[in-house]
Amino acid sequence: MIFRQLFDQVSSTYTYLLASRSGGEALIIDPVLEKVDRYLQLIGELDLKLVKAVDTHLHADHITGLGALRDKTQCTTVMGEQTKADVVSMRLSDGDRLTIEGISLDVLYTPGHTDDSYCFAMQDRVFTGDTLLIRGTGRTDFQNGDARAQYDSIFNRLLKLPEATFVYPGHDYKGDTVSTIGEEKAFNPRLQVKSVDAYVALMNNLKLANPKMMDVAVPANMKVGLQQEEVARHGWATTAAEAIAIVKAPDVVLIDLRERAERERDGVIPGSLHVPYPNLQENIRPGGMLQGLATSTGKRLLFYCAFGERSAMAVRAAQDANLTSAIHLQGGFAAWKAAGGPITDG
Ligand SMILES: [Fe+2]
Repeated sequence: MIFRQLFDQVSSTYTYLLASRSGGEALIIDPVLEKVDRYLQLIGELDLKLVKAVDTHLHADHITGLGALRDKTQCTTVMGEQTKADVVSMRLSDGDRLTIEGISLDVLYTPGHTDDSYCFAMQDRVFTGDTLLIRGTGRTDFQNGDARAQYDSIFNRLLKLPEATFVYPGHDYKGDTVSTIGEEKAFNPRLQVKSVDAYVALMNNLKLANPKMMDVAVPANMKVGLQQEEVARHGWATTAAEAIAIVKAPDVVLIDLRERAERERDGVIPGSLHVPYPNLQENIRPGGMLQGLATSTGKRLLFYCAFGERSAMAVRAAQDANLTSAIHLQGGFAAWKAAGGPITDG
């Protein structure tokens, strides 16, 4: 496995880059906007293809690099289903898996620091965001933080992982880089409490100042979505209401870009072909299945995904591949569902 822990000195944030092999797909956790060029350089040097950028929660102390990484690499942005970010490409729930080629992370919903906090676990390590820090825990006094929920997330989820599990936190302010579950159980001063009430009392008496960046970072991090209006201005979009009417037309073929797990969890639009977004390029280039379908039958491709972000990037790529009649469903499956479009099991 390729694994890098990167540090932003300004916000003391750790960012993690993971891939299973050189030349393969990569995933980045908690990227910082100001460091995006550094990540892209490293990704190039390691010969990786960034396919997913993930935030453990909506950050208050730095601006996320999710939007910039998406704009520069066309990767999929990922957060938890509770996030207040306007648009991310994919939303995760507890028990889902966060996957790229050769790597699969267990998705744990761990509210407390915020109500959209997640941890991601794989064989020997867990990425704990700001839920569990080294010899500390994330503050719970803003962004719908909840010390009681955090106690549950830590004691009943994270501390149940094997003691040897490495803990990779979202921040460190003292220079520590990694710990283990066993070490934190034994030595984290916040975890030496006798009861949930003692933990709540401890957390509610910290009296911390707000993060310096909070007034800038939180609003910015709530506006990470791709500007779908611009795609619509080119005439490459359809609204859900229009789509419901045109999908029955014999010359339209619907292409679902989501992952299999999203289709199984949320359902599908009846009659759609499944082409996962990471496989798009090989399908739209000359000789590809979608290129062949569109040119041989004259059918119009109508891309959709969960929220319209992957499909907006797909429609641009299709236009670049000379599939000029391709359009996408603005707002994605969520908009389709809200408009009362028919849905079947995935
Ligand atoms: Fe945080």
